[in-house]
Amino acid sequence: MSSPDTIRIFDTTLRDGEQSPGCSMSPQQKVVMARALDALGVDIIETGFPASSESDREAARLIAREVRRPTLAVLSRCLPADIEASVRALEGTANPRLHVFVSTSPLHREHKLRMSREQVLDMTASSVAHARRLVDDVEFSTEDGTRTEEDFLVEVITAAIANGATTINVPDTLGYTTPDEMRALFQRLIATVPGARDVVFSAHCHNDLGLAVANSLAAIEGGARQVECTVNGIGERAGNCAVEELAMALKVRQAFYQLDTALDTRLLVPTSQLLRRLTGMGVQRNKAIVGENAFAHESGIHQHGMLRHRGTYEIMNPSDVGWPDSKLVLGRHSGRAAVSHRLRALGYTLEDDQIDPIFSAFKALCEQQRVVDDDDLEALMHGDVDGQ
Ligand code: KIV
Ligand code: ZN
Repeated sequence: MSSPDTIRIFDTTLRDGEQSPGCSMSPQQKVVMARALDALGVDIIETGFPASSESDREAARLIAREVRRPTLAVLSRCLPADIEASVRALEGTANPRLHVFVSTSPLHREHKLRMSREQVLDMTASSVAHARRLVDDVEFSTEDGTRTEEDFLVEVITAAIANGATTINVPDTLGYTTPDEMRALFQRLIATVPGARDVVFSAHCHNDLGLAVANSLAAIEGGARQVECTVNGIGERAGNCAVEELAMALKVRQAFYQLDTALDTRLLVPTSQLLRRLTGMGVQRNKAIVGENAFAHESGIHQHGMLRHRGTYEIMNPSDVGWPDSKLVLGRHSGRAAVSHRLRALGYTLEDDQIDPIFSAFKALCEQQRVVDDDDLEALMHGDVDGQ
């Protein structure tokens, strides 16, 4: 397990991520992904929700055989039969964790569970105690926690800790909260709940307002030491906190957070690409860290800056996240410096007066196509294209 100065990464790509539209994976595909998450260095892998399907049970069993370093978690409702099924699915796991959850918000209590506060409280206490009799490592989650009355949240978490929960996860299930609220909530919970300092607090943020990573960072500032994430931010609706973004925010702003993850960040891009191949779900080109454009520069001013010092327009090194290099994309916005630079890389060293006609032809070609690649430059140099 990571030291207290590191943030534990609980990866739920194979559970919360996989249950989102277009992302389902077979048990065998989940094993491939679990191996990659192990290599990436995540602390905990949530392999599925065994009570929900035979496929999830099979995946948990197969992954347990092969992946021995990280903790392997499975999700379970606070129901005796679910807990028993989940514990069976964890058999043979080197470091098992049972993750039990119940909804706590008024809307969920009334319309989903049809239960009173007292009933939810009893269910929490008895389920955590049941789980803890079977497994030493028990995580408890308050589903829709950020829309729960705070006095009730405190009561439920107090009951979970008193009955043996070792990790307390407070999900922002609907991606509703804001960073200031999240930071303050974690600060208050950790300060007021009896026994809070003996357990690990965890954030689980959805991205409905595009705030999942910001809210997770705010939870860390408030005292959370585990963050639940997915690769490429896949997950229900607009997704979950993206592991690549969270890990790089902590790394790039290390001086501020003074906390790091145990991840080998050079594997972030390969892991992202593996998930795209397995699920067939791509990521947008401008996605932070792992998108095709994350280290691509087209405008003349930016390219000129990059050629002098990459720090002018990059806050991290592409090789630190697994890209071979930055890309200077040649297009309508590019300037002479980038065209000369690319031509030099292709073996053409041109004097200033020689570059003028080539640059004019290049500009004309850019009126016809968005991107000019190396083959186009070769054609320009051989006069095969006049750009008109
Ligand atoms: O979003 C959520 O509340 C969850 C819990 C089941 C942890 O995924
Ligand atoms: Zn979730």
